[in-house]
Amino acid sequence: MPLISRSPATGVWLLTTPRTSYALRIDDTGAPCHVAWGPRLTPAEADSLAGPFEEPVSSFEGRPAVGEELPVDGGTRYGPPSLQVRYADGSRAFEWEPVGHRVDDSVPGVAELVLEFRDRVFPLSVALHYRVRADTDVIERWTVLRNDGGRHVDLLRADSAAWTLPPLADYRLSHVTGQWSAETRLRRERLPHGETVLTSRRGITSHHANPWTMLDDGTADEDRGRVWSTALAWSGSWRITVQRTPDGRAGLTGGVGHEGTRVPLGPGEEFTTPVSAGLFTDGGFGAASRAWHGYVRAHVLRHAGETAPVLYNSWEATGFDVTEAGQLALAERAARLGVELYVVDDGWFGARRSDRAGLGDWTPAPDRFPRGLRPLSDAVHRLGMRFGVWVEPEMVNPDSDLYREHPDWVLHLPGRRRTELRNQLVLNFARRDVADWAFAWLTRLVAEHRVDFLKWDMNRVFGESGRPGPEDGGDRVWTRYVHHLYGVLDRLREAHPELRIETCSGGGGRVDLGILARTDQAWTSDNTDAVDRLGIQRGFSQVYPARVMSAWVTDVPNQLTRLTVPLRFRFHVAMAGLLGVGGDLTRWSEEELAEAAGLVARYKEIRHLVQHGEQYRIGDPYGDGPSAVQYVAADGSEAVVLAFGASPRHGTPRVPLRLRGLPAGARFRDTETGAVHHATVLTEYGLDVRLPGGDWASSLLHLQRVPDGDAGDRAGS
Ligand code: DGJ
Repeated sequence: MPLISRSPATGVWLLTTPRTSYALRIDDTGAPCHVAWGPRLTPAEADSLAGPFEEPVSSFEGRPAVGEELPVDGGTRYGPPSLQVRYADGSRAFEWEPVGHRVDDSVPGVAELVLEFRDRVFPLSVALHYRVRADTDVIERWTVLRNDGGRHVDLLRADSAAWTLPPLADYRLSHVTGQWSAETRLRRERLPHGETVLTSRRGITSHHANPWTMLDDGTADEDRGRVWSTALAWSGSWRITVQRTPDGRAGLTGGVGHEGTRVPLGPGEEFTTPVSAGLFTDGGFGAASRAWHGYVRAHVLRHAGETAPVLYNSWEATGFDVTEAGQLALAERAARLGVELYVVDDGWFGARRSDRAGLGDWTPAPDRFPRGLRPLSDAVHRLGMRFGVWVEPEMVNPDSDLYREHPDWVLHLPGRRRTELRNQLVLNFARRDVADWAFAWLTRLVAEHRVDFLKWDMNRVFGESGRPGPEDGGDRVWTRYVHHLYGVLDRLREAHPELRIETCSGGGGRVDLGILARTDQAWTSDNTDAVDRLGIQRGFSQVYPARVMSAWVTDVPNQLTRLTVPLRFRFHVAMAGLLGVGGDLTRWSEEELAEAAGLVARYKEIRHLVQHGEQYRIGDPYGDGPSAVQYVAADGSEAVVLAFGASPRHGTPRVPLRLRGLPAGARFRDTETGAVHHATVLTEYGLDVRLPGGDWASSLLHLQRVPDGDAGDRAGS
């Protein structure tokens, strides 16, 4: 079946992915309308779903609030508009007039449909874009708006796409909420009637919400059930409005900006929205996550095929007390552990001895690095590791040479106070000169100091978000800032193809499909407490793969929570993502260093499964019994299980953990004990995880498939 086809009988467009279908058509008023989104359909089946257009049942109804591909503000529509326009004469509305369509399938395995429209009255063009691929069920959608006239147009709302669900008996919404050091708390709640708004007004994706949704009928679980999900590829303010109508339909619309912000379009200007990606899966939340992970690895990340190195980061060890000698001492110990990438965090530049000064002055602090960073970089390279540094290019401390020279470079509103958060202000990346300045010093830093890795941080949210001077500056800030940020990242990667970048915003404040297209991994959270991390990582994994989930082993008692858990447990939790070490190694005993070196070596044996395999979440990390994350090789030949337990309570029933994703009938050998297990027993009857006693125990089980016909040597299950 072609990826995109059109029915000659009904005009229905049918988009086909490996396991799903998406269908739409243009109705008799010219508006693009939804037909179907779910399991695979033949063209004839899709046609049969395109029933006659329904007339409103009373004069108090208008067009159905759910069911259009991009509901506009105009005519008799009363739902949340995806597109809301104000013209130069003050009038509003958009009336669909189809002007054409095209299908581009020139590249094998991918096809794009573009439906073109204009307003019936004003010279405004709208193009709806749909991209489908042969290797993923994710459908990418975006919208391009162009002002073809000679007068100004305001896009009061310019969403990427609206998504419509089929009628279901009930609706449940999964999403995440959070705050600094408590990101990605998974919420799974019944969708209320009316409108539910998920949003960030902070200028970044935010710790507080993340621009993805999953909807089901309330019965799906990790392994079973139909799930419709969406994710927005955008790293600034955003809004998603999920709707449940009085007549029992549900859908959502989402895009850039929060309420009250607009996208100005001058004469001849065009605005391309970010991608809103949609995914239907039948196989529970686990299958939905695995499909997202596969999509991110194949089509969002640029270097997902690479194996990410074990990293060391100095932040929790030294704070701002960064010196060449101190870093070298840590680097030598890190190298002994088997670390492959050494990262100097905040505190290496300008007058940065606390968070009160120095941001913006990006030259190595002469008192602590008299010969610059190059000697440290060379020493790290000699130790056999790559060299990384922390940067925060979008920020400035008022106490800095940069601010003294360019006080007008920050986001501000004339005559109003400039509110500092963490003693810093936001540099206005919406200004071309500011973005160019950032690129210039970053590219120099990378080249001169032989930097292999940047941790790109962003430690405060927007405030007084204006841009005095240019007309519309205050409104353009929200989108142009992000576009210029993307531009600097893109240019840096272009100029330094070997450079790898970690996105960070006080932990996980800027993780989304937009930033992941320009970076290689994400700092998940400033909360490095392994127990809290179990929940944070579970929420993170709903859409984002372990391949980008950076996790460090740090000291106990934990800086934030004061909790003390065993080193092995801390390692096992961090091994569920990109393993890093962030403790003060100069204080670790020889026994601890030896245990850590063993665990790093163990990680290297299994990391191909974590980073490139299929992930399964098993059990509740905060429930009575053990929980686990399991990663299975794409060909089913290997698996690793990381199991975690809390404080054992005497008499709690021992329920075996049922593993997932292992080929039935196969046998697997435990690489540590040599015991041979039957896959069917492990998946249908479960593995009796006997964790060592005590609080916060954990285990790692690495299974390798026994070739058929091999007798195996030791019986397990
Ligand atoms: C916030 C980051 O998330 C931390 O890891 C650290 O880099 C600090 N910023 C440094 O200021």
